[in-house]
Amino acid sequence: PVPAFLGLNFDGNHAVHPDPGIRLSTAWMDEGPGVVGNRATEASRGTNAAAWPVERILDRGYAVATVYYGDLEPDHPEGWRSGVRARIGPGTALRFGPGDWGAIGAWAWGLSRALDVLAKDPDGDGGRVAVIGHSRLGKTALWAGASDERFALVVSNDSGEGGAALARRRFGETTDRITSAFPHWFAPRLREYAGREDALPVDQHMLLALVAPRPLYVASATEDLWADPRGEFLAAKAAEPVYRLLGREGLGVAELPSPDRPVGGSIGYHLRTGKHALTAYDWEQYLDFADRHLRLEP
Ligand code: GCU
Repeated sequence: PVPAFLGLNFDGNHAVHPDPGIRLSTAWMDEGPGVVGNRATEASRGTNAAAWPVERILDRGYAVATVYYGDLEPDHPEGWRSGVRARIGPGTALRFGPGDWGAIGAWAWGLSRALDVLAKDPDGDGGRVAVIGHSRLGKTALWAGASDERFALVVSNDSGEGGAALARRRFGETTDRITSAFPHWFAPRLREYAGREDALPVDQHMLLALVAPRPLYVASATEDLWADPRGEFLAAKAAEPVYRLLGREGLGVAELPSPDRPVGGSIGYHLRTGKHALTAYDWEQYLDFADRHLRLEP
């Protein structure tokens, strides 16, 4: 049985790899390469393959599992009506209360259901599944990893505001910007903290700390200032006391490292040169980190 990386994808499973055997998604999706009238066409096969170096991951001895996030809930403010939130709760009510879950919660719930399936696969090792995500799906991977302790390792790639970045810094994307552009992502109550981040009872280092003592990797990119690389590093740093309390080293460095110099112990971190993306370089670091933590630990 092999360890696996599990993550949601943005553009349908068929966009992750050009293999014609992958079923073309028929679900709603955002306009993009090969998407016409919010539906995927054959031309969209493999369009997201750069973010999913499948052959390389398999060569390194890992399985890859992925699910189209729009199959759980289409990513727009009314998407919940045809997604899992309408089925599970608050049922057919037309409104969500301040503390109800948002789309990120629904997507993270879907990751747990995917893990249920992987855990039953005789070729896989349900005890060694890493959850990974980029950007809004990095926010989702963090929430999935925090709320479901069966995930053995958690990877946040450029997750930014609402993910690994500290909200109180108000650098790049802010609570105001994210809750007005994407009101469906979070519990409605988050909007009450727009411009009042200092009043938040929690910040994102506490989300990261919920992963402890399991291995956690946070990654940023130099040109991705919208996601606040320094705020992501500082949150990882501020999660360290909980790792220490639980007998783990945590990040192990005091300062933001230079670009392309991965650091860390049970919390990994790197600042990749370049833009907001999940790249082959990022995957190499995650595979090395998984080798250290999923293969050698008792
Ligand atoms: C927007 C949004 C970010 C999000 C990103 C993405 O830029 O403001 O919060 O992470 O989309 O998911 O690509």
